[in-house]
Amino acid sequence: MRATTDLEDLGLDEGGHLLVQRGLAALPPGGRLTVTGRHPALRLHLAPWCREHGHRLADADADAGTGAAQVVIKGPAEELRWRDATRAGSAPGPPDRAADPGWGLAARGALVETGGPPIGAEWTERDHVWADIAPRLYAAAAASQWDPATAVSWPEYETARAALPDEVERAVVQVMTYLVENEQAALIIPARLLSQLHPHFREVMQLLAAQAADEARHVEVFTRRATLGGGPLGTSSAGGRASLQTLLNEPDFTTAGFLLSVLGEGTFLDLLRFLHQHAPDPVTADVTRLALRDEARHVAFGTAHTAHAVQADPGYLGTLRQAVERRHAALLDTAGLNAGVFDSLVLLAAGSWEPAALRKGWQAVRELRDQMDSGRRRRLAVIGFPDDEAAELSALHTRNFM
Ligand SMILES: [Fe+2]
Ligand SMILES: [Fe+2]
Repeated sequence: MRATTDLEDLGLDEGGHLLVQRGLAALPPGGRLTVTGRHPALRLHLAPWCREHGHRLADADADAGTGAAQVVIKGPAEELRWRDATRAGSAPGPPDRAADPGWGLAARGALVETGGPPIGAEWTERDHVWADIAPRLYAAAAASQWDPATAVSWPEYETARAALPDEVERAVVQVMTYLVENEQAALIIPARLLSQLHPHFREVMQLLAAQAADEARHVEVFTRRATLGGGPLGTSSAGGRASLQTLLNEPDFTTAGFLLSVLGEGTFLDLLRFLHQHAPDPVTADVTRLALRDEARHVAFGTAHTAHAVQADPGYLGTLRQAVERRHAALLDTAGLNAGVFDSLVLLAAGSWEPAALRKGWQAVRELRDQMDSGRRRRLAVIGFPDDEAAELSALHTRNFM
């Protein structure tokens, strides 16, 4: 079998090898490719290239010189190299199982040469990480990224501050201080899960990356609001941090997402809505509104994935229940919500130090806790818990909210 390719004046060292490769691709091992060209170093370059790629260059004709035809005899090496290669699943859909750790970091659907380093991903089963809503949520997340520098009405703070009593400013700073520590936990957890997730669940990987980026922005804007007035930050309670630590310590993908996103961030939806509603200045109103929008996606994925995992294995409800009970027991001796945060919420809702206003503020916080509870029960029901169990588990949720 003979084939010909003409390089004209193109050198092998300036892209000519592509034409030679293309000519050889159609040939079986042992097939001969006649290479013509006017480049003065054609034969000089072809010889080492052939050696490197397992082909053979036929002896030059006696009269061979510049411009003479060269004959490349195709070697077996390329065929051998790809003979045992496998397809790493298919590009469009997520696999049921990211089957072969040997695929390493190959793209989903790639033809994988054997022999590369294996990947050490822990989460390789579709049902352990997936939700059908993940691709749509990722697209929504990518389209909804906002710029902390311009999305918040920072310049309006100065005017608003003049009308803000010092105690109210301090209440905002206390709440922001609390929010920052919660956001830090909410950033670390998806980042940690992401690092152990097989990349073939790329839609979930992308969504978790966007979620971590969302939390990074929340940390930024809440910190910035806390420091706008130039005063010191508020307090961090041991009970609050103990609550967050139990989230960080949860090793299972689904359980960690359930505790963080369904119960914790779910509860935060009501908290952020409350803070937005009672914000005493436009910056506080902006940062809580923007965070709320992002959190709704985090809660949507956590709920959809947990429901997916329970559908695949209804016995998993028991595991989730145990996780809530275990966490409740671990936090029994802690104080729960930072008292300074609770008082700040009351003051923000009251809007003044009048006893009647404080009563209204206190009632508003009580209503907030009722709303948080009914939201949790609703999401627990979506996951598959019967109503009575949902009510029980919601009542066991950490008093720190997250
Ligand atoms: Fe957040
Ligand atoms: Fe979040």
